[in-house]
Amino acid sequence: MTRTPLIAANWKMHKTVSEAVQTARDLLEQLGGAPPDDRTVLICPPFTAIMAVRETLTGTGILWGAQNMYPRADGAFTGEISPRMLADLGCTHVIVGHSERRHIFGEGNQLINEKVRAAFEFGLVPILAVGERLEHRQAGLEEAVVEEQLAKGLMGLSADQIRQMVIAYEPVWAIGTGETASPEDAQAMHRFIRGWLGAQYGEDAAQAVLIQYGGSVKPTNVDQLMAQPDVDGALVGGASLDAEQFARIVRFQAP
Ligand code: 13P
Repeated sequence: MTRTPLIAANWKMHKTVSEAVQTARDLLEQLGGAPPDDRTVLICPPFTAIMAVRETLTGTGILWGAQNMYPRADGAFTGEISPRMLADLGCTHVIVGHSERRHIFGEGNQLINEKVRAAFEFGLVPILAVGERLEHRQAGLEEAVVEEQLAKGLMGLSADQIRQMVIAYEPVWAIGTGETASPEDAQAMHRFIRGWLGAQYGEDAAQAVLIQYGGSVKPTNVDQLMAQPDVDGALVGGASLDAEQFARIVRFQAP
């Protein structure tokens, strides 16, 4: 099974509309107008810039998506954005359960599960983010924490849905800290995740699902991370804000 790597930018709460458009243009220029055709490139701007980024990226082969959503089509949910609205903007993917959503905004596994299911309902590919905190890793609980996030976050999904989705392993202690999981630690957790999915949903689904790594991915470490057999992509925060750095990450070369 060959899995097409997915390199995704999570711009978080950064960039005005004009800054976002400029970065998207700069990225295109850095990539010579289009991404390499053996990998998928996705940009997740803040909601306010999705429309403008769409105008810049349409027809280029680079995809755009969202960082979050509320799991209803529409309704009285002041301040929220629905999967129907995201699909209408041409978003292909939506990040769900990012650790900043879990820890700053108190999102729990049940809400995250509703979001995963709502994404499928509206034809969006969910990128389910999972990952342990430092204290969990220090206590040797990293697999137990990730397993619980997977079991609860994926509840009710079919093997066919698992096959189509993306899991992002983002150890919380590696996000925005400059600390990266070693390629070996990342591989160990990715293998654990794929093994767990295989036991629950069957080997075919487990071999098809993309498992991205996130947490201080940089031009200097992406090649080694992507060389790991179960690392199928990167979810990049800080380094994705700079077009030159992100372009280098997109052009990773696994040895
Ligand atoms: P950094 O790349 O800034 O560590 O952020 C990772 C992340 O949270 C991507 O979703």
